[in-house]
Amino acid sequence: MMDVEVRELMQAFVLSDYQVQEVYSRFCAEISKGLKRSTHALANTKCFPTYVQDLPTGDEMGKYLALDLGGTNFRVLLVSLKGHHDAMVESQIYAVPKDLMVGPGVELFDHIADCLARFVEKHEMRNSHLPLGFTFSFPCEQKGLKEAILTRWTKGFGCPGVEGEDVGRLLHEAIQRRGDAEIAVVAILNDTTGTLMSCAHRNADCRVGVIVGTGCNACYVEDVANVDLLHADFKRNQKDVLVNAEWGAFGESGQLDFVRTEYDREVDDTSINKSEQLFEKMTSGMYLGRLVRLILMRAMQSKVIFKLSNRREHFATALQKNEDVFETRFISEIESDSFPEFSKTRTIITELFGLEKASVEDCQKIKYICECVSKRAATLVAIGVSGLINRISDRRVVVGMDGSVYRYHPKFDAYMRNTMHKLVKSDKEFDIMLSEDGSGRGAALVAAVASKTK
Ligand code: BGC
Repeated sequence: MMDVEVRELMQAFVLSDYQVQEVYSRFCAEISKGLKRSTHALANTKCFPTYVQDLPTGDEMGKYLALDLGGTNFRVLLVSLKGHHDAMVESQIYAVPKDLMVGPGVELFDHIADCLARFVEKHEMRNSHLPLGFTFSFPCEQKGLKEAILTRWTKGFGCPGVEGEDVGRLLHEAIQRRGDAEIAVVAILNDTTGTLMSCAHRNADCRVGVIVGTGCNACYVEDVANVDLLHADFKRNQKDVLVNAEWGAFGESGQLDFVRTEYDREVDDTSINKSEQLFEKMTSGMYLGRLVRLILMRAMQSKVIFKLSNRREHFATALQKNEDVFETRFISEIESDSFPEFSKTRTIITELFGLEKASVEDCQKIKYICECVSKRAATLVAIGVSGLINRISDRRVVVGMDGSVYRYHPKFDAYMRNTMHKLVKSDKEFDIMLSEDGSGRGAALVAAVASKTK
């Protein structure tokens, strides 16, 4: 039996069936609001049309360049689509230095163009005129496949001079400034769109793409008749369009206040985008570790953990060092630990606090804290996914998923399925599949499908 004190401490993270249903209804209402022209401006979930209207068939061919910006790293990729649902990807990872994440936008785009030029040089492709797909994983209002206006930065980025601008143009200009490579940007897409496309390339039933990584968001296939923001020209010969829900912003009109805790409020208060991306702040990798850190600090203060140690002060100081000392990956490691050894948990405790011998009880409590935080995150993601599945007319829907939290957490998938079984309509069938390199393969597929349509 879990200790009463730690149960009490975590009570607010355990969502009741009523709360789950209520969040579900509010989420569905918000998606409808985002799609309708008359309510779009007021909606949190912007439901941007992506201008991607065809799913891949599997027979796409050709070589494409892809860029992937949006998490902790920046990548340049060379993707060869080989038909028969097959693709080969070569890629190079480049760090995005912290100061570039908040420095002038021009410098960020110059850095991107510089990495791209180095990659092209290395692969001897300077004059190959390969089409490029740019996976830019921030909220963008698309005006077409290759025109995307950044509406706001998220995930710790904050470069001035980019919000309100077309990122396709900024990239094009940065490539021109260098003048050493001929590259045409043919598509800009969100990582969730890339995930959906790359999963649909493998499985024809895929209709939803979800990322639970540094940030959290989803994209899904919507009937064009429901997408007011899509120009009539794009509705004439097409039945569907992929919609980028931008669900990370859900809750900004107070819809989640009845489930948010004091810890959620503190994480938000100390972030660089206060009052924004509230759903994301309860679900994604950038914030889950910060939540656990705040709970651990409270748990120490009130002697719920490390009760017998006279070094609690010292431990508290270790956690105060900075908001990211308790990394989100620790949650996955701790939750995959087993009783009574708790070897990974002990290693983390030793590294963080210099405490050599944590008790089994303390390890159990810390694991329980992590479980409550990640289970709530998975439940919220599942609420969103179920809402989207239930909107889609197909009876069977496969959900493509990616992102470090989903990928590396031992139980995130199981937690999600648990909630989805309660919320997905009974006449539907669903499955979840892990995406393989959605940002790279997805970008190439969007570029390929677009040129087919032309
Ligand atoms: C962004 C989304 C993105 C998600 C996952 C969020 O912060 O707003 O556009 O899809 O992170 O990377």
